[in-house]
Amino acid sequence: MLRLHAIVHLLLVIVILAGCSQSEPAAKSAATAGEKPKSDAPAASKTFTIGMSQCNLGEPWRVQMNADIKAAAAQHPNLEVIFKDAQNDTLRQRSHIEEFVSAGVNLIIVSPKEAEPLTEPIANAFRGGIPVIVLDRAVRGDAFTCFIGANNVQIGRAAGKWIAEHIGNDAKIVELKGLMTSIPGQDRHNGFVEGLGGKGKVVFEADMKWLEPEARKEMDSALARFDDIDVVYAHNDPGAHGAYLAVQAAGREKKPLFVGIDALPQEGVAYVSQGILNATFQYPTGGQEAIDTALKILAGEKVPKTITLKSRIFTKENVAAGGAVIEN
Ligand code: FRU
Repeated sequence: MLRLHAIVHLLLVIVILAGCSQSEPAAKSAATAGEKPKSDAPAASKTFTIGMSQCNLGEPWRVQMNADIKAAAAQHPNLEVIFKDAQNDTLRQRSHIEEFVSAGVNLIIVSPKEAEPLTEPIANAFRGGIPVIVLDRAVRGDAFTCFIGANNVQIGRAAGKWIAEHIGNDAKIVELKGLMTSIPGQDRHNGFVEGLGGKGKVVFEADMKWLEPEARKEMDSALARFDDIDVVYAHNDPGAHGAYLAVQAAGREKKPLFVGIDALPQEGVAYVSQGILNATFQYPTGGQEAIDTALKILAGEKVPKTITLKSRIFTKENVAAGGAVIEN
């Protein structure tokens, strides 16, 4: 009987620990831990719980976003952030939002995988009275508190313009797109077409879903079909790097221009310094801004519906000087 009790107890502990490993609390004050007041209380004196749903942690950019949120929240002992990772699974991310609502968090930050499927749970949370900050990838409609992100049309346009200035009229272009059910993928494509202004010809395009191995595979197909590729425009730096690896492995003498987006210091910017990429455009994570905005909302202040973050271009000419702001 005693042994049975011990086994049941052990099983219970395992179940509880497994539940906890999905989320990781950050920036919790020992003095205020456990207190969960309503969001209409003054920000300074109470503990607030923020639920953060990240669409995946398989890419360096998203790991950086969580690190930025954690670092910003750590400056405020009255904030506790519960991180959840959807592992690139839209249904799991929808459940995150519902779980945060049932847990009664004071605010939700979400960086959605896809626009359509996340629109409804976000709207339900918002209409139910929980403030929601949508970060980086937008959703449809306006049933959320605030959207924070850079202007992806502008970034795509700047990439298109840069490429147009560096190619001839007959240049062959490969476009490796980000997940086209996400708004940044759509915007980075539309802006690019506009910026290119009809110069060159896109001979191959594919959805590499933001993933380096997919980009590499798609580039293998492009290389098999075209002897002569002048430029690769990838919607993110992992995509551009995957294409670069494919060209290297194919042993092509002619190296196309490689252009990416994200410009993390340890990733895209380093690639430009090493001569792997010719240009990359910064896509800031917005982690710090999300926490700054959350604090205002929790203090009852009004915040703008959209906060647009600035982007920078990095090329071999300006990388040592820290790149240059994009203005267009
Ligand atoms: C990471 C990422 C970034 C990209 C962003 C767009 O998942 O693919 O590389 O800039 O998402 O939302």
